Amino acid sequence: MSKKVRKAVFPAAGLGTRFLPATKAQPKEMLPIVDKPIIQYGVEEAMAAGCDQIVMITGRGKQAIEDHFDVSYELESMLAERKKTDLLEIVRHISDMIHVAYVRQKEALGLGHAVLTARELVGDEPFAVLLADDVIDAEVPCLKQLIQVYEKTQCSVIAVQQIDGPSISSYGVLKAKPVEGSNGKLFEIEDLVEKPKAEQAPSNLAIIGRYILTPTIFEELEKTQTGAGGELQLTDGMRRLLKREKIYGYVFDGKRHDAGDKLGFLKATVEFALKRPDLREPFLRYLKQLGL
Ligand code: UTP
Repeated sequence: MSKKVRKAVFPAAGLGTRFLPATKAQPKEMLPIVDKPIIQYGVEEAMAAGCDQIVMITGRGKQAIEDHFDVSYELESMLAERKKTDLLEIVRHISDMIHVAYVRQKEALGLGHAVLTARELVGDEPFAVLLADDVIDAEVPCLKQLIQVYEKTQCSVIAVQQIDGPSISSYGVLKAKPVEGSNGKLFEIEDLVEKPKAEQAPSNLAIIGRYILTPTIFEELEKTQTGAGGELQLTDGMRRLLKREKIYGYVFDGKRHDAGDKLGFLKATVEFALKRPDLREPFLRYLKQLGL
Protein backbone atom coordinates (compact mmCIF):
# COMPACT_ATOMS: atom_id res chain seq x y z
CA MET A 1 0.00 0.00 0.00
CA SER A 2 1.31 3.45 -0.83
CA LYS A 3 2.36 5.68 2.05
CA LYS A 4 1.42 9.31 2.55
CA VAL A 5 4.02 12.05 2.82
CA ARG A 6 3.55 13.17 6.45
CA LYS A 7 6.98 14.29 7.53
CA ALA A 8 8.83 17.39 6.46
CA VAL A 9 12.54 17.73 7.15
CA PHE A 10 14.13 21.17 7.40
CA PRO A 11 17.92 21.11 7.24
CA ALA A 12 18.88 24.25 9.16
CA ALA A 13 22.34 23.45 10.45
CA GLY A 14 24.32 25.36 7.82
CA LEU A 15 26.60 28.18 8.87
CA GLY A 16 24.96 30.91 6.80
CA THR A 17 28.27 32.51 5.84
CA ARG A 18 26.73 34.62 3.08
CA PHE A 19 24.85 36.61 5.69
CA LEU A 20 27.69 37.32 8.06
CA PRO A 21 27.84 39.24 10.33
CA ALA A 22 24.03 38.98 10.74
CA THR A 23 24.37 35.21 11.22
CA LYS A 24 27.24 35.30 13.68
CA ALA A 25 24.94 34.89 16.69
CA GLN A 26 21.56 34.21 15.10
CA PRO A 27 20.43 31.55 12.64
CA LYS A 28 19.95 32.56 9.02
CA GLU A 29 16.58 30.80 9.15
CA MET A 30 15.35 33.40 11.65
CA LEU A 31 16.00 36.40 9.41
CA PRO A 32 12.60 37.95 8.80
CA ILE A 33 10.98 38.76 5.50
CA VAL A 34 8.76 41.68 6.56
CA ASP A 35 7.85 40.27 9.99
CA LYS A 36 8.06 36.50 9.67
CA PRO A 37 11.25 34.41 9.92
CA ILE A 38 12.03 32.68 6.66
CA ILE A 39 11.72 29.24 8.23
CA GLN A 40 8.13 29.94 9.23
CA TYR A 41 7.18 30.47 5.58
CA GLY A 42 8.52 26.97 4.93
CA VAL A 43 6.76 25.40 7.92
CA GLU A 44 3.45 26.97 6.86
CA GLU A 45 3.96 25.61 3.33
CA ALA A 46 4.63 22.10 4.67
CA MET A 47 1.48 22.23 6.79
CA ALA A 48 -0.59 23.51 3.90
CA ALA A 49 0.71 20.55 1.88
CA GLY A 50 -0.63 18.13 4.50
CA CYS A 51 2.55 17.35 6.48
CA ASP A 52 1.83 17.12 10.18
CA GLN A 53 5.29 16.32 11.50
CA ILE A 54 8.23 18.66 11.22
CA VAL A 55 11.80 17.54 11.74
CA MET A 56 14.35 20.32 12.11
CA ILE A 57 18.01 19.60 11.67
CA THR A 58 19.81 22.16 13.77
CA GLY A 59 23.28 22.74 15.09
CA ARG A 60 25.20 25.03 17.36
CA GLY A 61 23.77 28.53 17.69
CA LYS A 62 20.31 27.54 16.42
CA GLN A 63 18.46 27.76 19.75
CA ALA A 64 16.36 30.67 18.47
CA ILE A 65 14.59 28.32 16.02
CA GLU A 66 13.49 26.03 18.87
CA ASP A 67 12.37 29.00 20.95
CA HIS A 68 10.43 30.41 18.02
CA PHE A 69 8.24 27.31 17.65
CA ASP A 70 7.90 26.84 21.41
CA VAL A 71 5.41 28.46 23.78
CA SER A 72 6.57 31.80 25.20
CA TYR A 73 4.66 32.09 28.49
CA GLU A 74 6.15 35.46 29.50
CA LEU A 75 5.38 37.07 26.14
CA GLU A 76 1.87 35.59 26.03
CA SER A 77 0.93 36.75 29.52
CA MET A 78 2.36 40.20 28.84
CA LEU A 79 0.32 40.49 25.62
CA ALA A 80 -2.79 39.18 27.40
CA GLU A 81 -2.34 41.70 30.23
CA ARG A 82 -2.00 44.55 27.78
CA LYS A 83 -5.00 43.26 25.81
CA LYS A 84 -2.97 42.96 22.61
CA THR A 85 -5.22 40.20 21.33
CA ASP A 86 -4.14 40.39 17.68
CA LEU A 87 -0.49 39.94 18.58
CA LEU A 88 -1.35 37.24 21.11
CA GLU A 89 -3.12 35.30 18.39
CA ILE A 90 -0.11 35.58 16.07
CA VAL A 91 2.27 34.39 18.79
CA ARG A 92 0.01 31.49 19.83
CA HIS A 93 -0.51 30.44 16.23
CA ILE A 94 3.22 29.73 15.91
CA SER A 95 3.53 27.43 18.92
CA ASP A 96 0.14 25.78 18.30
CA MET A 97 1.05 25.09 14.71
CA ILE A 98 2.45 21.67 14.74
CA HIS A 99 4.63 19.09 16.43
CA VAL A 100 8.29 19.82 15.81
CA ALA A 101 11.11 17.38 16.53
CA TYR A 102 14.72 18.53 16.61
CA VAL A 103 17.83 16.60 15.80
CA ARG A 104 21.31 17.99 15.92
CA GLN A 105 23.84 17.75 13.17
CA LYS A 106 26.99 18.01 15.23
CA GLU A 107 29.11 19.33 12.39
CA ALA A 108 27.99 21.03 9.18
CA LEU A 109 29.11 18.15 6.96
CA GLY A 110 26.81 18.96 4.07
CA LEU A 111 23.17 18.82 3.07
CA GLY A 112 23.30 15.06 2.38
CA HIS A 113 24.69 14.48 5.86
CA ALA A 114 21.99 16.71 7.36
CA VAL A 115 19.25 14.69 5.65
CA LEU A 116 20.85 11.44 6.81
CA THR A 117 20.69 12.75 10.39
CA ALA A 118 16.88 12.60 10.12
CA ARG A 119 16.86 8.89 9.27
CA GLU A 120 15.61 7.57 12.61
CA LEU A 121 12.90 10.19 12.94
CA VAL A 122 11.68 9.65 9.38
CA GLY A 123 11.82 5.85 9.32
CA ASP A 124 10.61 3.83 6.39
CA GLU A 125 8.31 6.29 4.65
CA PRO A 126 8.49 8.93 1.93
CA PHE A 127 9.25 12.39 3.27
CA ALA A 128 9.68 15.99 2.21
CA VAL A 129 12.81 18.12 2.45
CA LEU A 130 12.48 21.90 2.44
CA LEU A 131 15.33 24.38 2.40
CA ALA A 132 14.08 27.46 4.18
CA ASP A 133 16.26 29.71 2.02
CA ASP A 134 13.93 29.15 -0.88
CA VAL A 135 10.80 31.08 -0.03
CA ILE A 136 8.11 30.20 -2.56
CA ASP A 137 5.05 32.27 -3.20
CA ALA A 138 2.49 30.07 -4.93
CA GLU A 139 -1.26 29.71 -5.15
CA VAL A 140 -0.98 25.96 -4.60
CA PRO A 141 1.92 25.47 -2.16
CA CYS A 142 4.97 24.19 -4.05
CA LEU A 143 5.28 21.19 -1.74
CA LYS A 144 1.66 20.26 -2.38
CA GLN A 145 2.34 20.29 -6.12
CA LEU A 146 5.25 17.87 -5.58
CA ILE A 147 3.17 15.61 -3.35
CA GLN A 148 0.55 15.40 -6.08
CA VAL A 149 3.26 14.19 -8.47
CA TYR A 150 4.53 11.72 -5.86
CA GLU A 151 1.03 10.34 -5.39
CA LYS A 152 0.81 9.58 -9.10
CA THR A 153 4.34 8.27 -9.63
CA GLN A 154 5.28 6.86 -6.19
CA CYS A 155 8.81 8.09 -6.95
CA SER A 156 11.06 10.80 -5.57
CA VAL A 157 10.31 14.26 -7.01
CA ILE A 158 12.42 17.42 -7.01
CA ALA A 159 11.16 20.95 -7.63
CA VAL A 160 12.88 22.58 -10.58
CA GLN A 161 12.97 26.06 -12.01
CA GLN A 162 14.06 27.03 -15.51
CA ILE A 163 17.11 29.26 -15.22
CA ASP A 164 18.58 30.75 -18.37
CA GLY A 165 22.01 32.31 -18.63
CA PRO A 166 25.18 32.07 -16.55
CA SER A 167 23.48 31.84 -13.16
CA ILE A 168 22.62 28.18 -13.88
CA SER A 169 26.15 27.40 -12.66
CA SER A 170 25.07 28.12 -9.06
CA TYR A 171 22.61 25.22 -9.06
CA GLY A 172 22.31 21.47 -9.26
CA VAL A 173 21.12 20.87 -12.84
CA LEU A 174 19.09 18.04 -14.39
CA LYS A 175 19.80 15.97 -17.43
CA ALA A 176 16.27 14.84 -18.09
CA LYS A 177 13.64 13.96 -20.64
CA PRO A 178 10.15 15.42 -20.64
CA VAL A 179 7.31 13.10 -19.70
CA GLU A 180 4.78 12.88 -22.53
CA GLY A 181 1.54 14.69 -21.93
CA SER A 182 2.89 16.77 -19.04
CA ASN A 183 3.06 20.06 -20.98
CA GLY A 184 6.77 20.36 -20.38
CA LYS A 185 6.31 20.36 -16.61
CA LEU A 186 7.36 16.86 -15.59
CA PHE A 187 10.76 15.38 -16.42
CA GLU A 188 12.24 11.97 -15.87
CA ILE A 189 15.74 12.53 -14.54
CA GLU A 190 18.66 10.80 -16.24
CA ASP A 191 21.46 12.48 -14.34
CA LEU A 192 22.17 15.34 -11.94
CA VAL A 193 25.13 17.68 -12.17
CA GLU A 194 26.13 19.91 -9.25
CA LYS A 195 27.03 23.50 -10.23
CA PRO A 196 28.15 22.90 -13.83
CA LYS A 197 29.88 25.56 -15.91
CA ALA A 198 27.13 27.38 -17.81
CA GLU A 199 28.33 26.06 -21.18
CA GLN A 200 28.38 22.51 -19.85
CA ALA A 201 24.98 22.56 -18.16
CA PRO A 202 22.91 19.64 -19.50
CA SER A 203 19.69 21.72 -19.40
CA ASN A 204 18.20 24.88 -17.92
CA LEU A 205 16.38 22.87 -15.23
CA ALA A 206 17.76 23.94 -11.87
CA ILE A 207 17.09 22.13 -8.60
CA ILE A 208 15.24 24.22 -6.01
CA GLY A 209 15.05 23.51 -2.29
CA ARG A 210 11.96 21.29 -2.24
CA TYR A 211 12.14 17.51 -2.48
CA ILE A 212 10.00 14.46 -1.92
CA LEU A 213 12.29 11.51 -1.28
CA THR A 214 11.68 7.83 -0.80
CA PRO A 215 13.41 6.30 2.24
CA THR A 216 15.80 4.47 -0.11
CA ILE A 217 17.77 7.74 -0.16
CA PHE A 218 19.03 6.96 3.36
CA GLU A 219 20.62 3.69 2.23
CA GLU A 220 22.30 5.49 -0.65
CA LEU A 221 23.48 8.45 1.44
CA GLU A 222 25.09 6.00 3.86
CA LYS A 223 27.17 4.62 1.00
CA THR A 224 27.97 8.00 -0.57
CA GLN A 225 31.53 9.27 -0.29
CA THR A 226 32.09 12.81 0.87
CA GLY A 227 32.81 15.22 -1.96
CA ALA A 228 34.66 18.51 -2.20
CA GLY A 229 35.29 20.27 1.14
CA GLY A 230 34.57 17.04 3.05
CA GLU A 231 30.81 17.56 2.60
CA LEU A 232 28.28 14.85 1.91
CA GLN A 233 26.18 16.14 -0.97
CA LEU A 234 22.50 15.31 -1.33
CA THR A 235 22.95 15.42 -5.11
CA ASP A 236 25.54 12.61 -4.92
CA GLY A 237 23.13 10.51 -2.87
CA MET A 238 20.37 11.14 -5.42
CA ARG A 239 22.68 10.10 -8.28
CA ARG A 240 23.08 6.76 -6.53
CA LEU A 241 19.32 6.59 -5.89
CA LEU A 242 18.77 7.05 -9.65
CA LYS A 243 20.41 3.68 -10.26
CA ARG A 244 17.69 2.00 -8.18
CA GLU A 245 14.58 4.13 -8.65
CA LYS A 246 13.16 6.73 -10.98
CA ILE A 247 13.34 10.35 -9.89
CA TYR A 248 11.24 13.11 -11.43
CA GLY A 249 11.77 16.84 -11.73
CA TYR A 250 8.70 19.07 -11.65
CA VAL A 251 8.57 22.65 -12.92
CA PHE A 252 6.34 24.07 -10.20
CA ASP A 253 3.94 26.99 -10.55
CA GLY A 254 4.86 29.93 -8.37
CA LYS A 255 7.60 32.41 -7.67
CA ARG A 256 10.68 31.38 -5.77
CA HIS A 257 12.85 33.84 -3.88
CA ASP A 258 16.40 32.92 -2.96
CA ALA A 259 16.40 34.38 0.53
CA GLY A 260 19.80 32.82 1.27
CA ASP A 261 21.37 35.40 -1.01
CA LYS A 262 21.48 39.09 -0.11
CA LEU A 263 19.95 40.41 -3.33
CA GLY A 264 17.32 37.65 -3.35
CA PHE A 265 16.48 38.45 0.26
CA LEU A 266 16.00 42.14 -0.53
CA LYS A 267 13.79 41.37 -3.53
CA ALA A 268 11.68 39.00 -1.43
CA THR A 269 11.30 41.66 1.26
CA VAL A 270 10.08 44.23 -1.27
CA GLU A 271 7.66 41.84 -3.00
CA PHE A 272 6.17 40.47 0.21
CA ALA A 273 5.81 43.98 1.64
CA LEU A 274 3.96 45.06 -1.52
CA LYS A 275 1.55 42.15 -1.05
CA ARG A 276 0.68 43.19 2.49
CA PRO A 277 -2.51 45.25 2.66
CA ASP A 278 -1.23 47.20 5.69
CA LEU A 279 2.06 48.13 4.03
CA ARG A 280 1.42 48.29 0.32
CA GLU A 281 0.24 51.89 -0.03
CA PRO A 282 2.72 53.64 2.28
CA PHE A 283 5.57 51.49 0.98
CA LEU A 284 4.68 52.24 -2.64
CA ARG A 285 4.54 55.97 -1.85
CA TYR A 286 7.96 55.70 -0.26
CA LEU A 287 9.44 53.82 -3.23
CA LYS A 288 8.00 56.36 -5.66
CA GLN A 289 9.39 59.34 -3.79
CA LEU A 290 12.85 57.82 -4.03
CA GLY A 291 12.55 58.79 -7.71
CA LEU A 292 14.85 56.00 -8.89
P1 UTP B 1 23.68 26.39 2.02
O1 UTP B 1 24.47 25.85 0.91
O2 UTP B 1 22.78 27.54 1.74
O3 UTP B 1 24.69 26.75 3.18
O4 UTP B 1 22.86 25.19 2.63
P2 UTP B 1 24.45 27.65 4.45
O5 UTP B 1 25.48 27.29 5.45
O6 UTP B 1 23.04 27.58 4.93
O7 UTP B 1 24.66 29.15 3.92
P3 UTP B 1 25.93 29.86 3.27
O8 UTP B 1 26.03 29.33 1.87
O9 UTP B 1 27.15 29.54 4.12
O10 UTP B 1 25.56 31.32 3.34
C1 UTP B 1 21.63 24.76 2.10
C2 UTP B 1 20.75 24.24 3.21
O11 UTP B 1 21.33 23.09 3.81
C3 UTP B 1 21.46 23.27 5.21
C4 UTP B 1 21.49 24.77 5.43
O12 UTP B 1 21.06 25.10 6.73
C5 UTP B 1 20.55 25.25 4.34
O13 UTP B 1 19.20 25.14 4.74
N1 UTP B 1 22.72 22.60 5.64
C6 UTP B 1 23.85 22.75 4.92
C7 UTP B 1 22.71 21.80 6.76
O14 UTP B 1 21.68 21.65 7.45
N2 UTP B 1 23.86 21.18 7.13
C8 UTP B 1 25.01 21.31 6.42
O15 UTP B 1 26.02 20.70 6.81
C9 UTP B 1 25.00 22.13 5.29
